[in-house]
Amino acid sequence: MRVITPPIKSQGIKTKLVPWIQALVPSVSGRWIEPFLGTGVVAFNSGFKRALLGDTNPHIINFYKQIQQGLISPAQVRSFLESEGEYLRQADNDGYDYFTIVKQRFNRLYDPLDFLFLSRAGFNGMMRFNKKGEWNIPFCQKPERFARAYVTKIVNQVHDVACLIQPEWEFRISSFESLILEADVDDIIYCDPPYSGRYVDYYNGGTDEDEARLFELLSATKAKFILSTWHHNDYRTNEMIDLYWNRFNLVTRDHFYHSGGKIENRKSIVEALVYNFPANIRQHNHGVIPKPEQLVLLDERAEYIAEQLCKA
Ligand SMILES: C[S@@+](CC[C@H](N)C(=O)[O-])C[C@H]1O[C@@H](n2cnc3c(N)ncnc32)[C@H](O)[C@@H]1O
Repeated sequence: MRVITPPIKSQGIKTKLVPWIQALVPSVSGRWIEPFLGTGVVAFNSGFKRALLGDTNPHIINFYKQIQQGLISPAQVRSFLESEGEYLRQADNDGYDYFTIVKQRFNRLYDPLDFLFLSRAGFNGMMRFNKKGEWNIPFCQKPERFARAYVTKIVNQVHDVACLIQPEWEFRISSFESLILEADVDDIIYCDPPYSGRYVDYYNGGTDEDEARLFELLSATKAKFILSTWHHNDYRTNEMIDLYWNRFNLVTRDHFYHSGGKIENRKSIVEALVYNFPANIRQHNHGVIPKPEQLVLLDERAEYIAEQLCKA
């Protein structure tokens, strides 16, 4: 499966887990509902014509809304990144001075193109906002960041998501509760909440109360749902699994990630998908073997995605 990668980045991005998640998605006639949208990578690879997508982070939602409305186009992104990239290249302190100018401009005006710039020029593709809601990730220290090939890569990503975002997709700045309450029997809800108990940033810190509320809402929904969470790592297990999620179906697999750029910082975690519908997948198998029916569905969605990309 070719995974479409979005133009914005964040530390919790699920790109590597997309094929696993999509292999579990059941056949439903309704909407893809994603209340913790993040970068959107899971939604963009869902192959759904109708979607309801929310996040408390207004910058993410505004960015995608502007693409949907044609206010941000691939051509515009190219010209913006080429000229901003040139200023960065020529700036004092190895580009740092211009990164600071864009950061300050964004913290005043919240322009979605500045948001894209910061997302792609920040350290390690991270996204974080301080307690005042200001961009809080330092410069990647690369004045040549927006070299021609990199700009083209980002422009292509904008093009891809512009093709996949349908007029019927609704983007909403909202907390997760209202989206889940709106779900109908024919919809599929995919939730990827922040880890509970870990303050991540201004828009993105889950509390134990949030997890309890999420459990309540997902237990009561008429829709089908899939929840991403972590199961255990080398040091501890996620106590929310026993507390809440073990009541549903659950499948796990190993996931390796880097914290920091160095190879020795490679860490492993066992990821879990919790779901409330029958699926013929071995439980706790650390690697899903989807049933043929699910593979067929996956093929259909991949075809749909390819069609949308070709139309443009
Ligand atoms: C783990 S990230 C989702 C990552 C996403 N699946 C991806 O691959 O990019 C969680 C997201 O939930 C958002 N968020 C945090 N608290 C929220 C809440 N109460 N309601 C809705 N969204 C929330 C954060 O802003 C963040 O974008």
